[in-house]
Amino acid sequence: MSTDPGMRSDDAGRAPAHSVGEILVSEAEIRSRVAELGEQITRDYAGERPLLVAILRGAFMFLADLSRAIDLPVEVDFMAVSSYGNATASSGVVRILKDLDEDLENRHVIVVEDIIDSGLTLSYLRRNLKNRAAASVEVCALLVREGRQKVDEDLAYVGFELPPDFVVGYGLDASGLYRNLPYIARYTGEGGD
Ligand code: IMP
Ligand code: MG
Repeated sequence: MSTDPGMRSDDAGRAPAHSVGEILVSEAEIRSRVAELGEQITRDYAGERPLLVAILRGAFMFLADLSRAIDLPVEVDFMAVSSYGNATASSGVVRILKDLDEDLENRHVIVVEDIIDSGLTLSYLRRNLKNRAAASVEVCALLVREGRQKVDEDLAYVGFELPPDFVVGYGLDASGLYRNLPYIARYTGEGGD
């Protein structure tokens, strides 16, 4: 591989800088909003032991920061779902790729999501989790794309509302890349999911 930084190839798995556009939510803005969400959850669940259910892979970074901003004995679990298949828009057909390890009976569940677009994935998840006899199921989404929801979901905690653009960073990817960016930026490359 060349040592010239200008010759960095995509094969190295790094973000080609030209596909990452304007920063929509900065690292500092994320940090302060996540702290606020953590305080809110700490107040709302006082005396409880909520189970944070992060939806992989997009929510991994948000979960890491959010869980540290909550001053309660929380537990965490993970679920992986595939909602898009090969399409670029949600079909509403959700497949569970990795299920939870925890039993949800009588648990206060907080679903931690990266972004709500059509809301179809979330609507499926909420029904699925409620059927497991959880005491409550609420949602904490880092991002919500304005005006795109096909189902009117009741979102207890939302970080930021975003315009229609496809975004990457802070856990969100385009074809598997850019999850490690510490901010949320507009994606200007091809593909989109
Ligand atoms: P929904 O079912 O249409 O709400 O799809 C939500 C899921 O699509 C999210 O959990 C993400 O995994 C993915 N997604 C939607 N928009 C974006 C985006 O702008 N960047 C990266 N992933 C996205
Ligand atoms: Mg996702």
